[in-house]
Amino acid sequence: MSSTPRGTVYIETYGCQMNVSDSELMYGRLAEYGYTPVDRPDGADVILVNTCAIRDHAEQRVIGRLGELKRFMGRDTVLGVTGCMAQRLGPSLLTRARHVQLVVGPDGYRALPSLIEGARAGERVARVDFDLEEHYEDFSARRFEGVRAWIPVQRGCDYKCTYCIVPMTRGPERSRRLADVVREAREIAEHGTSEVTLLGQTVNSYHDGEHDFADLLRAVGAVPGIRRLRFTSPHPNDFSDRVIAAMAEVPSVCEHVHLPMQSGSTRTLRRMLRRYSREGYMDCVARLRAAMPSLAITTDIIVGFPGESEAEFAETLSAVQEVGFDDAFTFIFSARDGTPATRLPASMTISAEESRDRLQRLIEVVRDGARARNLALLGSRHEVLFERPSRRGTLLQGRTRQHRTVLVPGGTSLIGQYRVVELTGTTGSTFTGAFVGAGRPLPLAG
Ligand code: SAH
Ligand code: SF4
Ligand code: F3S
Repeated sequence: MSSTPRGTVYIETYGCQMNVSDSELMYGRLAEYGYTPVDRPDGADVILVNTCAIRDHAEQRVIGRLGELKRFMGRDTVLGVTGCMAQRLGPSLLTRARHVQLVVGPDGYRALPSLIEGARAGERVARVDFDLEEHYEDFSARRFEGVRAWIPVQRGCDYKCTYCIVPMTRGPERSRRLADVVREAREIAEHGTSEVTLLGQTVNSYHDGEHDFADLLRAVGAVPGIRRLRFTSPHPNDFSDRVIAAMAEVPSVCEHVHLPMQSGSTRTLRRMLRRYSREGYMDCVARLRAAMPSLAITTDIIVGFPGESEAEFAETLSAVQEVGFDDAFTFIFSARDGTPATRLPASMTISAEESRDRLQRLIEVVRDGARARNLALLGSRHEVLFERPSRRGTLLQGRTRQHRTVLVPGGTSLIGQYRVVELTGTTGSTFTGAFVGAGRPLPLAG
């Protein structure tokens, strides 16, 4: 390794938090090798596009963007594609986009410095092998956000939901060692960041051979200075009693869980191979709420999965009302090459028009439910961690432990600090608030 200055690197990130976290690792690695991170593509010596393959739309955006990036490139600029789309398309991306020199999948980032050197010497390479041992333990992530930090604890996925490309782009599930995760959490806390989010595709199935996710929550929760502990995304089937007890007992674990439901119909869930029924999902929600009465629950839902009848879709709408989600990310099913859902008979395909109509109806039900819940919260008091100035004028944006967004008039000196705020208004999805007790600082937890 050498730290000879090698120019600048810009990474543009698409997709989920796992990609955000991987970009931080890549920036960290490349900085060690002498590259200076920059936040714009103009004039960068190396441009990496860290991509997502989850839906066709996500890939089309990247294809469009690769075209646009041409105008920022000089004669010697290296353009690379990393992440899930790189893994999925491999060398064919090099043929498809002649100005792309590097294609590197999620397990190949260790080789980036040498691959970039090769590209500078004129090579065009695709590197898409899985490496089941790879957790990038010796990389130091370059984090740009000071208030919150992402910690990957698991890579890959062993579920095989029939619509999903992730098992093909990220490979089999593997967990980092608990001691390594705790070490990273300690370093983050020592740098003054008090909120961490543990990341994995089915994060609560975490197991390092010795410790399960309950052990991990307790261990990270015991790190001095970690005041808020979150995780995403859990799978309903992996909420053991041990995990739920740890969530309820560890004070820093926040009262919010993002619990992807996908559908409220047992028949649809079976075709999706989600491995739970509507009742199983409801039971999981009930067990979580019994342990944490103030728990906020958000979810992911897909409409238009092959064979979804109007009656099955109606079950999704009723499940949304029955659970009372605080928010939901809603998607139209997108067929992904190589996934089992593409082998369902064409006669089961739901038309684009029908899917759009269902999405609209679903969004309305989600929005109405969230608005009613949020209106009922007006006047209540919450601890808010301030994150950044809001896009609108002089307001500061922060979040409650339940992950609700609150806007309060205040100066940027409050960023990274905790205050008690009374919720005074809501747009239906976000809140405005006022400091309680003249915005006195809260005593620091443990
Ligand atoms: N590992 C996470 C999900 C990661 S993908 C989990 O299992 O919960 C994020 C969301 O994208 C999924 O929850 C699903 O709702 C959606 N999604 C995944 N594949 C999709 C597809 N082919 N079409 C539409 N939405 C999809
Ligand atoms: Fe995809 Fe299912 Fe794995 Fe989530 S659990 S990443 S939806 S295969
Ligand atoms: Fe997309 Fe890959 Fe994440 S497909 S959602 S970036 S794991």
